Amino acid sequence: MEPITLPENFFFGAAMSGPQTEGRWAEGGKLENLWDTWSIENIDDFYNKVGSYVGNDFMTMYEEDLRLLKEELGFTTFRTSIQWSRLLDRDGELNPAGVEWYHRLFAAAGEAGLEIFVNLYHFDMPTYLFRRGGWENREVVDAYENYARKAFAEFGQEVRYWFTFNEPTVEPEQRYQEGVWWPFTKNFNRARTVQYNISIAHAKGVQAFREAQSAGLVRDDARIGLINAFMPPYTKDDPSDADLEAVRMVDGINNRWWLDLVTKGELPADVMETLAERGCVLPVRPGDDAILARGTVDWLGCNYYQPTRVQAPSRDVDDAGCPVFADKYVWPDAVMNESRGWEVYPKGIYDFGMTAARDYPDLEWFVSENGMGIEGEYKNRDASGKVQDDYRIDFVRQHLTWIAKAIEDGARCVGYHYWGAIDNWSWNNAFKNRYGFIEVDLMENYRRVPKLSAAWMRQVATSHIVS
Ligand code: BG6
Repeated sequence: MEPITLPENFFFGAAMSGPQTEGRWAEGGKLENLWDTWSIENIDDFYNKVGSYVGNDFMTMYEEDLRLLKEELGFTTFRTSIQWSRLLDRDGELNPAGVEWYHRLFAAAGEAGLEIFVNLYHFDMPTYLFRRGGWENREVVDAYENYARKAFAEFGQEVRYWFTFNEPTVEPEQRYQEGVWWPFTKNFNRARTVQYNISIAHAKGVQAFREAQSAGLVRDDARIGLINAFMPPYTKDDPSDADLEAVRMVDGINNRWWLDLVTKGELPADVMETLAERGCVLPVRPGDDAILARGTVDWLGCNYYQPTRVQAPSRDVDDAGCPVFADKYVWPDAVMNESRGWEVYPKGIYDFGMTAARDYPDLEWFVSENGMGIEGEYKNRDASGKVQDDYRIDFVRQHLTWIAKAIEDGARCVGYHYWGAIDNWSWNNAFKNRYGFIEVDLMENYRRVPKLSAAWMRQVATSHIVS
């Protein structure tokens, strides 16, 4: 393969989240979040009964981890999230121990030579707010706004890159539509209410950021963005009109909803119309349009793992009485990551880039997550004990190759963050699928050990040549 070069100012980094790494879930005044409570109440739902409590022990290991990201992987940037449940107390006031930790972490990232990217929400609502209705309750939107304002005021001079949410499509889908995560609800309409209220929360977060910046609380060169999982939609090779209609709605709800919000400050009219026609009523309040109009961002993060393949639905309405817009479709040529059950389709990131360039030409974006989680790879070691993860090299190489082509063809993609660069806790899958270039050895106090792929990643990140 011919080596491919990525632009000089293209950045490489690691994406992680607070609830999946920090641990010390009940120390320093931290409140329970949804994951902690679910772990306490039903530990059997978690792979090998490993709940949220320790994460990957990042609060103990963070200095070493930051050094590994910089020195072993050659990264210059690093994303994590603040845990709402650690930063604020039940009255919505700052928790001193949480404040101290994040100041310490952000300073340590700077000292390690890493630019920190801070996300405010990564599926981790404080449980007491969830018990009040979570995102179905508009008061929780107000609580989020207060949280965002406090975070901007406290850390505004330290952090340059801020994000309001990670994957605001995924939380409604996993918790309310597919019923995979607590509270295991399967109701399409409730999922859209959650999605709508998160959109309002996002826009209020952006407004809070702009106000904090005007007031001099946030540095002048700071930027605000949103991170979503963009799954380019595909259907059968010879599609019917109904198949194409399925694509329109799935793309509309998962992708265009957020792309329109962050570039135009509005939600896609065709999607809103179809939802209303099919009886999906959103909790719209007078004045919401003006709130959403403030939701435009400075740039966007695109998490890319897999495409969406859909076809016309086999029924119009489901058992809960909600509209059905599409059925899943398995592409006969699909290459699967069997561990995770996700299709591997590197060209999807190119297709996203081309759609963004065509329909949202002013939008600057970066790949904010991409990664490969594999089960049982610790069994596959060389004589020195290093995990032999050549498939991870191949996975990243293929994605970077398509990203380079997208840039060449006009995509405004400016960087790449690998998800879970150091193995971390994957929600109810716990440590089943490992994503890292750096192994976390659970049998030896969370010891960090670079895998085979680490040296390859370092070579690419420091040279910008993908070989
Ligand atoms: C993304 C999330 O959806 O994918 C991460 O932002 C998550 O939090 C990652 O860990 C990989 O998915 P999973 O379920 O295998 O951990």
